[in-house]
Amino acid sequence: MELLRAIDGRRSVREYTDAPVDDEVLRELIEAAVKAPSAINQQPWSFIVIKDKARLASMSDQAKAYFLKASLGAPAHRDMLNDPAFHIFYHAPVLVVIAAAEPTDWAVEDCALAAENLMLAAYAKGLGTCWIGFAQHWLATADGKAALGLLATYAPIAPIVVGHPRREPPPVPRKTPEIRWINQAGPAA
Ligand SMILES: Cc1cc2nc3c(=O)[nH]c(=O)nc-3n(C[C@H](O)[C@H](O)[C@H](O)COP(=O)(O)O)c2cc1C
Repeated sequence: MELLRAIDGRRSVREYTDAPVDDEVLRELIEAAVKAPSAINQQPWSFIVIKDKARLASMSDQAKAYFLKASLGAPAHRDMLNDPAFHIFYHAPVLVVIAAAEPTDWAVEDCALAAENLMLAAYAKGLGTCWIGFAQHWLATADGKAALGLLATYAPIAPIVVGHPRREPPPVPRKTPEIRWINQAGPAA
């Protein structure tokens, strides 16, 4: 798929079919992720792939409880997370967590760039993805890291669900970007 078409067409998908995603395809997505640039080429990322539905449901419950107990997020988010039926991973068949092996200076940026590559590659293969920020606070706790089988030194950064979209989400509007041209001829606009 042409790159600009993928950038334009990718959407956060929140409804998935039960169809599994092949391990080989997941490996290809990770291969695309690690092509991202990283500061001093440190490539701090590691990838945890979770396909166990019961574990994902339990992680969803724990992340919701943590978020609510810590009074994080806006009231509308808390209402959503208070709903026992709300599954923060949207019943997707796979969760890929991109984690930094050590919290180096630019590990967050590096892992986020890898995440975008992974999401675009998934879209190019007809798959849907969504970054699940609701999971991040809990994943950073000792319990969250233990659920991922990670040592305490690791920093989980990008939880991305992957699966087959049930339907194509509508486009999400973008704000007009604020752009300041500096040292260009003509008036600033
Ligand atoms: C850091 C980050 C955290 C996000 N967390 C969530 C989340 O917890 N749940 C969710 O449904 N979408 C989440 N999203 C998806 C955004 O809501 C989505 O990217 C935005 O609405 C734009 O829509 P689009 O991705 O379809 O272009 C997150 C996106 C980012 C980049």
